[in-house]
Amino acid sequence: MKAVSTNRPVHNLALIGFMGTGKSSVGQLVASHLHFTYLDTDHVIETRAGKSINDIFARDGEPAFRQWEQRIVEELALRKRTVISTGGGLPVNPANLASLKTHALVVCLWASPEAIWERVRDQSHRPLLKAPDPLATIRELLAVREPFYRQADVLVNTDLRSVREVVQHVIHQFQMARNVKGDA
Ligand code: S3P
Repeated sequence: MKAVSTNRPVHNLALIGFMGTGKSSVGQLVASHLHFTYLDTDHVIETRAGKSINDIFARDGEPAFRQWEQRIVEELALRKRTVISTGGGLPVNPANLASLKTHALVVCLWASPEAIWERVRDQSHRPLLKAPDPLATIRELLAVREPFYRQADVLVNTDLRSVREVVQHVIHQFQMARNVKGDA
């Protein structure tokens, strides 16, 4: 686990990490515990675009989806008391991570490729995993993305932790970061 080291406003909590690491379930529980608003960037994009992530990828292409992500992230800078759950590829764009770090504690949820595959294998809403060998795709993408995920303020390995334990850990890290900064 990486320790908290922020020297900037911590109004919000941003969860980054690969698909299937639990960002949505953890984020919703953390938000409810802190009495924060919960926001999921994928959900905002689907609402704004008026179509599913699958449709955006299929009809407009991945670059169009990445543009949506950057636009939404820029808007988040004005937020307060919000838990932001992000799409797995969002922090690969350095501008996105830099922007999140201006107002949020960035927490990365980490999991092994095998654990990720177990969690996502019965789901069908992720275009990048519609591949002949999804586990190999997960391994490859995770290897490419690891350097970006490691730039989070806090890294939490979820492999051997229950959702409840991850939630408690994330809340603890967030409260420590806020106490240091005295943010409201
Ligand atoms: C993606 C992850 C998805 C979604 C899109 C692309 C990725 O979000 O943004 O399918 O590039 O890893 P989740 O991480 O919430 O599954």
